[in-house]
Amino acid sequence: MPRRRPQLIPWKVAGRVTEAQASADEVVQATGWVFNNETGDTLTLAEFVATGDNEVPVYLDRFHLLDGDGDDRRTLIEIGCGIGRMTCAFTRRFGTVIACDLDAGFLERCREAVARFGKVDRLRTIEVADGRTLNVPDDSVDVAFSYITLQHCERDDALALVDEALRVVKPGGRIALNFRSWSGVDPIVLPVGAVVRVLIRVPGIGGWLSRQRTTTRLAWQANRLDPHQVVGPIQDRLGDIAVWRNPSRSAPLWGVKHASSEHFEGINKNHWWLVADVK
Ligand SMILES: C[S@@+](CC[C@H](N)C(=O)[O-])C[C@H]1O[C@@H](n2cnc3c(N)ncnc32)[C@H](O)[C@@H]1O
Repeated sequence: MPRRRPQLIPWKVAGRVTEAQASADEVVQATGWVFNNETGDTLTLAEFVATGDNEVPVYLDRFHLLDGDGDDRRTLIEIGCGIGRMTCAFTRRFGTVIACDLDAGFLERCREAVARFGKVDRLRTIEVADGRTLNVPDDSVDVAFSYITLQHCERDDALALVDEALRVVKPGGRIALNFRSWSGVDPIVLPVGAVVRVLIRVPGIGGWLSRQRTTTRLAWQANRLDPHQVVGPIQDRLGDIAVWRNPSRSAPLWGVKHASSEHFEGINKNHWWLVADVK
C-alpha cells in the first residue's frame, strides 16, 4: 500500500472482510459493507444486484449514455464497481465493461456477481492500486460512469479520477460521474471521518476500529465537492455539460459556464452528477 494514503485503508479492510466470506451472498448477508448497510440472513446477492438492475437503465436513459443498437460494440468503464451491484446490468448492455475498484477482493466478488447475473465474457476488471490512476489506454472507452465512489476518495484522488475519465474516454464519448455536496451534518461527519482515518493507522486500536461498521462508514467520508470545483477546471474539455440534481436543489449553478441544470427525483438530495460529452 502506498504510504501516507490513509483514505485507502478503510476500503482495503472492507475488501479483506469481503474476501473472508465464503460467497458473495454471504458478503451481502453479513456485511452490508459495500452499498446499503443492510444485513440479515434472508438477504441475497440476487436482491442486491436487482437494485442495480432497476437503477442502471434509468441512468443510461436519462443521461443519454446509450447508442441504440450499437451498444454491444461499445465499452463502458465503471469507476468504483464494488461487488458488481450495477456491473451486471452494464454487461447486459455494453460489449465490454471495465470494472475498476481500489480493492482486489471487491473485484473478485464483482466477477462472481457478473458470472451469475450478467455476461462475464464482456467483463474486464482493473485494480486502482493507488486510488487515482486507471490502467487503461487513452481514448479507449465510450462511456465513463461512477456512482457513490468519488465522494469516498480523498479530494485530490477524486479530481485525479475525473481527469482519468477524460483521458480514457474517446472524443465524442460521454461521462456520468456522481459526487456529493455539503449537507448539514458534514461539518461534524467529515472531521470525525478524518480523525477515524488517522486512528485506524494506530497500532492496537486501528485494527479493531477498522472492523466496526460505524467507524468504518465514517472513515469512508472523505470529501464533498460542488459543481464549480469539479467542472470549472475542465469545462473547456467538455461539451453538452449538464449538472443533474434532485428537484429540491434549485439554487442556480455558479462558476460553471455553459452547463444546463437538470433535475430528476431519483437523485439523492445531497448528490449531483456531471454528465457531458468529451471533446
Ligand atoms: C459505496 S461503494 C459503491 C459501489 C457501486 N458503485 C454501487 O453503487 O454499488 C464505493 C466503492 O468505491 C471504491 N473506491 C473507493 N475509493 C476508490 C478509489 N480511490 N478508486 C477506485 N475505487 C474506489 C470502494 O472500494 C467501493 O467498492
